[in-house]
Amino acid sequence: IIVNIIDREGKTHELEAPTDMNMNIMEVCKSYELPVEGRCGGMAMCATCQCYLESDTELPEQSDMELDMLDEAFFVEDNSRLGCQIHVTEAIDGITLRLAPEGN
Ligand code: FES
Repeated sequence: IIVNIIDREGKTHELEAPTDMNMNIMEVCKSYELPVEGRCGGMAMCATCQCYLESDTELPEQSDMELDMLDEAFFVEDNSRLGCQIHVTEAIDGITLRLAPEGN
């Protein structure tokens, strides 16, 4: 599938992501060497993978863990998501996400 990531300079990266490797968006960004730290390793415990959902892609409901983390994070907007909690599936083909500022 294709994942569009808008970096912190405003440049859009069109990334190809496999659906059969159990990856999440934080891992996809890191595999393309985009500046996403993912400090907690994808446990919804750091918010360094925060991004903003910019497409009308339907995502599964957020877990309580994700919502709790976003409650405490900086730069949170209505469309904030933790990249590590978005799984790469056919359902998100064409999704556009913008990286949140650094500082979480
Ligand atoms: Fe830490 Fe996503 S990598 S919350």
